[in-house]
Formats: sequence, structure tokens, C-alpha cells
Amino acid sequence: MKKILASVLAILMIISMAACGGNSAPAATEAPAATEAPAAEAPAAEAPADAGQKTVGIAMPTKSLERWNRDGEYLKAQFEAAGYAVELTYSDNDNTKQNNDISNMLADKVDLLIVAAIDGEALTQTLAEAKDQGVPVIAYDRMIKADAVDYYVSFDNYTVGVLQAKYVIEHMDLDNAGDKTYNIEFTAGDPADNNAGYFFNGAYDTLKPYLDAGTLKIPSGKNTFEQVATPAWSTDTALENFQNTLASFYSDGTVLDIALCSNDSTAAGVSQAIESDYAGSNTVMVTGQDGDIGNLQNIVDGKQTMTVYKNVADEAGVTLVLAQALLNGDAIDASLCDKFAVTAAYDTESYENGTRPVTSFLLVPWSVDNTNLQQLVDTGNYKWDANNKYLESTAS
Ligand code: BGC
Repeated sequence: MKKILASVLAILMIISMAACGGNSAPAATEAPAATEAPAAEAPAAEAPADAGQKTVGIAMPTKSLERWNRDGEYLKAQFEAAGYAVELTYSDNDNTKQNNDISNMLADKVDLLIVAAIDGEALTQTLAEAKDQGVPVIAYDRMIKADAVDYYVSFDNYTVGVLQAKYVIEHMDLDNAGDKTYNIEFTAGDPADNNAGYFFNGAYDTLKPYLDAGTLKIPSGKNTFEQVATPAWSTDTALENFQNTLASFYSDGTVLDIALCSNDSTAAGVSQAIESDYAGSNTVMVTGQDGDIGNLQNIVDGKQTMTVYKNVADEAGVTLVLAQALLNGDAIDASLCDKFAVTAAYDTESYENGTRPVTSFLLVPWSVDNTNLQQLVDTGNYKWDANNKYLESTAS
């Protein structure tokens, strides 16, 4: 933690105001190749003169899914470095607990709420209280269906799925497959998470022409989000579901070529199922998302093929700039992008809170495989281990 604070403080001194996504469509709709990571840039952080004693409540869903630990840590460090007091909670993937955690923050008179919801539809009442109290709400990473939600910071979620699909198309050379058919199975995320459908649809829509042409085939026939969803993004559930799929549709020697998994926690279960229960001798292409440490290890070891990386330190940085503008009463429009240290698209149409579209700032994800792991190190968020083999997190 000390190290993060030190580097954030150093960054504060530099105050670099770089790239802006402006008003355009998310740049990431054109998938960067696995080798084209955006250059590492300093997270934006501008210490406002009047930050004073303002307190920010940050509600994270759970510590059991790796990325939220990093999100919580980066958000806390960056907000504290900018002069705010922070209340940070993790709610064990339990809706009642998350509602209580947020109610407690409101009782503590926080000035702003930043919420990564467990269930996008379970916080409506509690957030209505925030609205009554005049406390602005930023939906963080996952959109929330609640009138009280004013702003949304996330990555371009649909593009995450597009990147996974494009990786498959490119690396299986599907455009030159001729009469060959490749077998694919999908594993998606938590139906309660508003993001999960975007990830699945981005991948499925991009692969659909190949499914229609017969270049890709789904032996299980499970081709809808509902059929392949994984409640709570649980690794164990993904493992069990995939073992069942393998037992039912692959025990006769059918070859599995691709396991399209929406994120790393599900990919971890699926690759475990393949290791223990798949009889074929080919290497199955397995996709993921997040850059969790265990999954990056699996990429080095050949058990997972790629992951879509979302730099959550940057997501925290964009959230800080937005929060500062909100708390200072500044206008919030496309020009805010000029203050971000990274590219983010300003989008007022794609996401809605159940009542109206919500102003969104969407960062750019990119693909990682075993050819460009160094680019993760270049972000400053990872380092090589003592043997220069696997990556470790630089967060504490
Ligand atoms: C996040 C993903 C993450 C998943 C499970 C989603 O809302 O956007 O990055 O893998 O939740 O934690």
C-alpha cells in the first residue's frame, strides 16, 4: 500500500493530462492486436484545493473475485492521495450486506458514493435514499438500475467480448478454414451483473457469421446467455458446468477446439475441467478477461490462451477525475475527457439506469496472450517473479 501511495503522490506532482477519447465512439471497437497495448500512462489525479474533509463511500462487491481487491486498493489510494477521506466496503457477494454497507455510508454522511453492484437491480431503494440526501452516485464498472445513478465509469463492455471473438477468428484463422469445422463452447457470467450480457453478446455476435456458415459448431447446442451463465461468476460453478458439458457431449471423442469464457474466474474453472475431464489431446483455446494472477500463470503454462485486460488503476483514475468534478460542482461533459490520463469515450446513449440514459465514461480494453505479457509489466501494475517466468501484482 505504501508503494502505491508513494507512486500516486509522485504522479500527482507530475500532473500529466494526456489522451482524451472525446465525443467519439469507443476507440476499442477496433480490436487492438494482442501486441498493441496502449502505452502505460500515469493515472489521472489532481488534488483539488478544496477537497477538505469530503468523504467518499466506495462499495465493492466481494474480495473473492480477484479484480475487486485491486479496484478497491487503487480507488482508496488515489482518492486519499487527492485529499479525500474514504470508506471502503466489500460485501461478500451478499445483496443484503451491500445494501447495509451503503446505508451505513449514508448514515456516516458521505459526500459521494461509488458503487460496484453485486446485483444491478438490488440497490434501488437504498440508492433512492442517497438521492433524497443529495449524495451523487457513480456506478463503477457495473451499471445499476436505479434512478439515483447519475454517472457510469467502466470499460467498453461489449468490446471485451468482441476482442475475445476476434482473437479466436484470427488465431484459428477462421477466414481461411475452408470446409473445416471447429467446435466451440461458451461460458458466460453472472445474470445479476449488467455487464455479463454485454460480454456474451459482443463475443457471440462477432462469431455468429462463422456459426451460421458452419465454420464453428456448438456441440452442446448451448447458444444463449441463459444456458451458459455462471451465477456469481463462480469458478466452482463454471468447473461443474463444464464438466457436465464435457461428459454429455465430448465423451465420445468429439474434439473441443475453443472454450469462449467471458472472464478469468470462469476460465479458471473451465480450464480445470478441461485438464481433468477432457479426453482429447489437442490444446483447447481458452479465453478470459481481467488479467488475474492465476490466469496469467495459466497463460504461461498453456492452460489458458488469452485474457482481455482492463487496467483498473486507470478506471480508478478516471473515476477520481469525475468525482472531483462532481464534488466541485463543475460541468460534466465530453471535455472532462481532456483531464483523464488515458483514453476514455464519452457516451450518453449506451447505458441506462432503468429510467434514463446515464452519462458514461468508457475505457479501452485490450488483448493479452503469451506474446505480450511484458506489456502488462509496462503498465506498472505487474512485475516478473524472481525467475522471470510468471507475473505478480505490484499492488499489495
Ligand atoms: C467485471 C469483470 C469481472 C466480473 C467478475 C464484471 O462486472 O467487469 O471484469 O471479471 O465482473 O468479477
